[in-house]
Amino acid sequence: MAFNIAIDGPAGAGKSTIAKRVAKELSYIYVDTGAMYRAMTLYFLRAGISLDDEAAITAACDNITVVLSNENGEQQVFLNGENVNGFIRTEEVSKMTSSFSVYAPVRQKLTQLQREMARTTDLIMDGRDIGTCVLPEAQVKIYLTASVETRGRRRFLELQEKGEACSLEEICKDIKQRDYQDMTREISPLKQAKDAVLVDSSKMTIEEVVDRIINIVKEKLV
Ligand code: DC
Repeated sequence: MAFNIAIDGPAGAGKSTIAKRVAKELSYIYVDTGAMYRAMTLYFLRAGISLDDEAAITAACDNITVVLSNENGEQQVFLNGENVNGFIRTEEVSKMTSSFSVYAPVRQKLTQLQREMARTTDLIMDGRDIGTCVLPEAQVKIYLTASVETRGRRRFLELQEKGEACSLEEICKDIKQRDYQDMTREISPLKQAKDAVLVDSSKMTIEEVVDRIINIVKEKLV
């Protein structure tokens, strides 16, 4: 049986940065499930499907294929054969993804795909519902979080570095809104699995979080 590590937590807690490092150290595959939801959202946006048109969203799910590949340690996301990595990280896609991902057909499609990947491959998978719903049998479960202020400041610095105009207040407001949507949706909301280890990275460096998780994994492997 493959060894699976599930990392869940709210937006901006550092899941992908941490998961990528842990994956590299353990030589595991890293799967960013948020990117899969983002790719599906890009399809809905391009097709002009509105957020309240559940019938159109359901029908569109049959026309979408999402495939992941790993190139030089970086996950690439293909939407119906097109590499969409360059289009899925905008603020608009972030907000809309949180909204489109409430629908059952969207979640069923991606959950099935994620389970298939995890069945045969040692991997570290991050998202919102990995420990609670996608991989309830994962050998290691981490719930990675940080305060809204910390997450907002990190995002603010990231955008500033890219030269994008932004306000810290706006960013914190968006983060709170996304937390609320992700935590209160009906199907597989974001929450800590009963058997997940809580890691609050507010006052920790990336290195400290990576070490903490590697230690938890090593304890399970012996
Ligand atoms: O991890 P991320 O910020 O890229 O995720 C974007 C959105 O996708 C997030 O706000 C909610 C949704 N998502 C989800 O519902 N379930 C997952 N396993 C991963 C992401």
